[in-house]
Amino acid sequence: MINQSKDRFTYKITKNPYSFYEEIRSIHPVYKGSFLKYPGWYVTGYQEASTILKDNRFQTRIPLPETTKKYEAIKHIQSQMMLFKNPPDHGRLRKLVSHQFTPARIEKCHPFIEKIAKDLWNTLKDKKKIDVVSDFAFSFASLVIAKIIGIPDEDKHMFRKWALNLIQSIDFTRSRRSIVEGNHTTLEMLSFFKDLIEKRRESPQDDLISDLLHQGKDRKLTEEELLATSVLLVIAGHETTVNLISNSLYCLLKKPKEYHKLIENPSLIELAIEECLRYESPTQMVARIASEDVELNDVQIRKGDHVYVLIGGANRDSKQFSNADVFDITRNPNPHLAFGSGIHFCLGSALARVEAQIAIKTILQYEGNIHLETEEVEWRELVGFRAMKEMHVHLK
Ligand code: HEM
Repeated sequence: MINQSKDRFTYKITKNPYSFYEEIRSIHPVYKGSFLKYPGWYVTGYQEASTILKDNRFQTRIPLPETTKKYEAIKHIQSQMMLFKNPPDHGRLRKLVSHQFTPARIEKCHPFIEKIAKDLWNTLKDKKKIDVVSDFAFSFASLVIAKIIGIPDEDKHMFRKWALNLIQSIDFTRSRRSIVEGNHTTLEMLSFFKDLIEKRRESPQDDLISDLLHQGKDRKLTEEELLATSVLLVIAGHETTVNLISNSLYCLLKKPKEYHKLIENPSLIELAIEECLRYESPTQMVARIASEDVELNDVQIRKGDHVYVLIGGANRDSKQFSNADVFDITRNPNPHLAFGSGIHFCLGSALARVEAQIAIKTILQYEGNIHLETEEVEWRELVGFRAMKEMHVHLK
């Protein structure tokens, strides 16, 4: 009998999610549990997870209680985000933004992303010890997304507080306090972006906000949708990328054989990042609600049931991946679900991939000699995301 308390669940997932996923998968790949506030189905089977993410009968919704009036700002803005919209609204919104994130568009960003990585690493490489999470990954991902969105240099420092507060308020472990803080942060961000939108309306620059403001008349986001999209990009596009970069370096440093393979053969970088995405997926869980009764792998999911898709579990399902618990940077094909699947498939996947590839290549180019301070790191108490508190490495 598995203990169903939320604290035990959070503890197990924070400590070692993969043995917990295995434990519930061995009972059923679509396991009925009540770990979180709303009881539901915990999906750790790859095939089942993939089917659910592609099936629009499983709908998305804002992850906040509907009954309270206390968190109006955050609730209202989340309800305008494509991540929490269902068809047909979702498609319209996504179409208006997606041209900014195509692989061809991202390809054009390579030179400035490389420059950001190189300049930042140059400021760190002579230190004896650094925290990869805050000193490198966080600054790097902030500078990149800020440049893309069009956030002026002097305002970039606000990212850290915004991102940390907001991620805490959307994780399934959220407390009332974190939602209240998330609400304050949202108000701060809204006022910041309202100002920025005004400035860009008057004098457009070469950035995403200007582009979205000045699309043709019939292709326009409302002001609220533009605000919501800006906030979404900070949450969705930043924290997860910080974690992908940090987790990738952690995986590589923990497995010296794979690390040296990559140093000897840098062209493996793309496959290596795919394996990091699979092995320590930055997003571990996404939620849906069944809009009608659905039968799936001999379980009856009822209309209104909550469904928790454990991406991190699906990506370690040995029915799909041979030697699923082995970190192998030459794994190919690697059809992981780290970016989700179906209509909500991550809009920023091309950008995230390029950022991680460039970040890791930059570090490996400059430092053949980099060591983890401790083999075991502390993970933040989140169940939807896989995020280290810090990761100290010695250089030279
Ligand atoms: C390693 C980095 C990233 C990971 C692991 C990741 C993961 C995901 C996942 C799993 C989803 C689907 C959520 C669901 O189905 O409920 C998603 C959606 C999304 N992601 Fe990412 N993401 C990353 C980076 C980014 C970046 C860099 C951006 C943009 C700058 C971004 C923007 C979005 C947006 C806008 C959505 C919503 C798409 C929609 O609803 O149609 N993400 N992401």
